[in-house]
Amino acid sequence: MQPKLIVHGGAWNIPEEYVADHISGVRRAVELVFPQLDSGLSALAAVEAAVNILEEDPTFDAGRGAFLNEKGEIELDALIMDGRTLGFGAVAALQNILHPVSVARKVMEQTEHCLLVGKGALEFAKKMGFTELPPEALLTERELAFFQTIKNDATFRTHQPFDAFPMDTVGAVAMDCNGNFAAATSTGGTARKLAGRVGDSPIAGAGGYADNELGAVSATGWGERIMQVLLSKTVCDLFARQEAMMAAQAGIGILAKKVNGLGGVIGIDKNGRYGLAHNTPKMAYAYVEKKGVTAGIQA
Ligand code: GLY
Repeated sequence: MQPKLIVHGGAWNIPEEYVADHISGVRRAVELVFPQLDSGLSALAAVEAAVNILEEDPTFDAGRGAFLNEKGEIELDALIMDGRTLGFGAVAALQNILHPVSVARKVMEQTEHCLLVGKGALEFAKKMGFTELPPEALLTERELAFFQTIKNDATFRTHQPFDAFPMDTVGAVAMDCNGNFAAATSTGGTARKLAGRVGDSPIAGAGGYADNELGAVSATGWGERIMQVLLSKTVCDLFARQEAMMAAQAGIGILAKKVNGLGGVIGIDKNGRYGLAHNTPKMAYAYVEKKGVTAGIQA
């Protein structure tokens, strides 16, 4: 089977000065991971590896470069899901760890649980051998400066970034040589969110979903609204009767119509076709076909 890999680098009004970094960041993730997927790497390992690359890249709101919450701290959410079993692992409000999606995978594979949060998630990560970093290791000057501009702005709302400011959740969806699907999503959430706020990204069915009988999806955007329509599961369900691109567009239509939401999705349907759609001004994406890598900003 010809494997497939698609990633996103967030859906928002990406300004011109950030466009090149977004395109090169998503392109790099697929260029580094696809050759391994093509050589037999599992879909699960591929989505983890692709998201790890995006978590390390300070361009994106995930891992290094994440938004600050109301207290000026970084709290990270992530999910990974295995389409073979519907098993998933997730972490939320996790601090000081560069690769939350890898901790999420350990939750899935090493515990009886699906979702760990806050201090418990950090303790678990350390037990699993992850390094607890000093907070400055994930902080970028860009996000510190942005936080200074919004922290005392009484008119600021956490979903404004989708229209005007950075909002860069990252995600990956893969189908491997054996026809297995996986999805992964990782984020710093929304700017100046309340401490302890959890968005859609670590919620199975909302921030991501994978089912070998349907395909797999990763979402990005305004989490409070995405959760209301379980956007990733909604799009996966649509894969049963529509090809991927149509299903992605229909899912975003449901998000907009039912809850006035803003966001984007990437996915692969059970026939290996790519879908991507958004109703934010732009979305960064990259995917691989026989002819090579396509990376860009969809407007
Ligand atoms: N979609 C990311 C968040 O709202 O946290």
